[in-house]
Amino acid sequence: MRKVTVVGAGNVGATVADVLAHDNIVNEIVLIDLKGEMAQGKALDIYQQAPIGEYSTRVIGTSDYRYTANSDIVVITAGLPRKPGMSRDDLIAINAKIVNSVTDQILQYSENPIIIVVSNPLDVMTYASLKRSGLAPNRVIGMAGILDTARYRAFLSLELNVSVRDIQAVLMGGHGDTMVPLPRYTTVSGIPVTELIAQDKLDAIIKRAQNGGGELVQLMGTSAWYAPGAAAAQMVSAIVRDEQRIFPCCAWLTGQYGINDLCIGVPVKLGRNGIEQVIELQLNEEEMKLLHNSADAVREVVNVYNALPAEA
Ligand code: NAI
Ligand code: 2OP
Repeated sequence: MRKVTVVGAGNVGATVADVLAHDNIVNEIVLIDLKGEMAQGKALDIYQQAPIGEYSTRVIGTSDYRYTANSDIVVITAGLPRKPGMSRDDLIAINAKIVNSVTDQILQYSENPIIIVVSNPLDVMTYASLKRSGLAPNRVIGMAGILDTARYRAFLSLELNVSVRDIQAVLMGGHGDTMVPLPRYTTVSGIPVTELIAQDKLDAIIKRAQNGGGELVQLMGTSAWYAPGAAAAQMVSAIVRDEQRIFPCCAWLTGQYGINDLCIGVPVKLGRNGIEQVIELQLNEEEMKLLHNSADAVREVVNVYNALPAEA
């Protein structure tokens, strides 16, 4: 794979381009934004960093979709971020219009790309791009689970005073307050986390992870970008390198976990075809209930999306 387009050269998009350039695994990154000069400036800045970071990936900034032609992977970060007091779902009408128009313009110049959606509300914007594009469901993937799991792992590492590298975890469901961390599938170098931490502390960490995005919006007045950008770049890297890595990502479900016709966070295997496999865990009754509760919340927003005027 040679070419990646990142749509939206704002906080998240520029971070995706920066992290990916440092990975030095693609020939070219096109950073595209309505604000063409800003995209050009950030791309130039990232490329001027190449002699220091020692990568040879070319980075181009533009507002002209012709430069995106024949992209292998497209990361969509275009859209409004949250402001204090807003939920991710408040962004739906504006961002749906943006994501749909971006999807159309991308497909005008790239025939069969893999699309990674980052714009919020994430699960619904992934659904929108999948439906609008007509691409195979394995080729349209949402980024949220890697970020949410990273937050959960970071909080656990602080509480346990262990390296974050030793914490393995999985988190499912929608990218919102109903996301479902799974303590039964959380280990510290193979040791079940439940053997290392008191239940009340674990509950508090789960709550903090569920509100992880909101905590940063309160602190910064806008939403996060370093961890989100790195998470999207990690997905690109797994696909480009055909690594078959297992990550929680937002994927189209056709009956897995008893959920149909919805994009929602589940563990998947990522490789050169995008989603190579949706992994089906044996959830217990309580976990399944939480996942379905989250799916219901996502479906409500999908219904809002489907009821938007046709031009959206
Ligand atoms: P930002 O405001 O810094 O950047 C957004 C960029 O999109 C702006 O530069 C804007 O000019 C551009 N844009 C708007 N409409 C466009 C269009 N039609 N075509 C091309 N570019 C367009 O926002 P930020 O912080 O980068 O966030 C971007 C999106 O990602 C937001 O919707 C935010 O909620 C979401 N997000 C999602 C996360 C996740 O876990 N899935 C995590 C963090 C952010
Ligand atoms: C985040 O979780 C707001 O979705 C964004 O940081």
